[in-house]
Amino acid sequence: MKFRTRAIHVGSEPDPATGAVVPPIHLATTFIQPGAGTWGDFDYSRSGSPTRSGVQRTIANLEGAAGSLAFASGMAATHCATMLLKSGDHIVAGSDIYGGTFRLLHKICNRAGITVTLAPADDLVQFEAAFQSNTKMVWIESIGNPLMSIPDLSAIADITHKHGALLGVDSTFTSPAIMRPLELGADIVMHSATKYLSGHSDCLAGVLAAKDPALHKELYFIQNATGAVLSGLECFLLQRGIKTLDLRMREQSRSALEIAVWLESHPMVKRVLYPGLASHPQHALAARLMGDRFGAVVSFEIDGDYLKTKKVCESTELFGLAVSLGAVESLIEQPASMSHASYDAAARAKFGIHDSLIRISVGLEDAADLMGDLDHALRTAL
Ligand SMILES: Cc1ncc(COP(=O)(O)O)c(C=O)c1O
Repeated sequence: MKFRTRAIHVGSEPDPATGAVVPPIHLATTFIQPGAGTWGDFDYSRSGSPTRSGVQRTIANLEGAAGSLAFASGMAATHCATMLLKSGDHIVAGSDIYGGTFRLLHKICNRAGITVTLAPADDLVQFEAAFQSNTKMVWIESIGNPLMSIPDLSAIADITHKHGALLGVDSTFTSPAIMRPLELGADIVMHSATKYLSGHSDCLAGVLAAKDPALHKELYFIQNATGAVLSGLECFLLQRGIKTLDLRMREQSRSALEIAVWLESHPMVKRVLYPGLASHPQHALAARLMGDRFGAVVSFEIDGDYLKTKKVCESTELFGLAVSLGAVESLIEQPASMSHASYDAAARAKFGIHDSLIRISVGLEDAADLMGDLDHALRTAL
């Protein structure tokens, strides 16, 4: 079956008890057992529940994984992956990653004795130079955030495995409707399912999917032992969102490209960063990895300082001034003061996250209305 069919039917089969075409939401925290010491399919909802199992089967199928796990947030999912490591281990991570991941790696993983080196994932020579003899994991994003850099996933998988480490890919910006990192050599794929997978800004969720059944089992062990699982209601919202994922990604990518092209010709815009543009330094690589959909996040720089950039972000009416992305509502933000405020100023300067950078998440509104709104904000603020 094709992707769209699987997104609707796998893991969401009609309820055999009632014939309901949408499976019921199971809220039970505990399950009656066949006997003392004899276990049924489910026992306690931290360990598993029918509703969570359904959405986990859907995601595993869409990612081509041995199994997937649903978490209470994207950060809980990333944290679970890092808990595969132990004191003395080292992580190489991409240098433009989500600010919360930067904080997790530098302020939580280090408490467990794990060290981290950031390196640009779009420069294989510099990236490999960051490896150490104790490197056990590589963590990159399928599209770098907020600079929209494109890592060559297959090449990074080869480098990672040559050094005996695991490759984890945060594929939030692409979703399985655009790219499936496990097929390109990654060991673990992670999503902030809060974004495209659920798609409506109403469900905080995270996902891990692993290629190898033994790795999936180990991640499940950590998740069950530490407990950051997704609740039944959110599993339902996530499952429902996934049914329209492919259509949303297609339409939002199309609008994002149209807006990126238009921004490039705007007199008040200095530079546009979007992998679908011919001007993007890795456009050819992006086209090889993603086909004709490049996601719906666009970054651009204006000719202005911190305050002017802030003012542009505060002057839109349709684009909501908010962090997050990937939903039907368009959003705008200033990475330096919002999504990437967890990077200290020195790290932002080093990695090119300038004060004049603006990031938009293109939703499902009409692209002409969105361009009108951005044009009005730029002319009001500058
Ligand atoms: C790329 C990326 N990864 C991870 C996260 C963290 O996910 P969550 O907010 O669901 O914990 C985010 C959140 O914005 C993100 O954008």
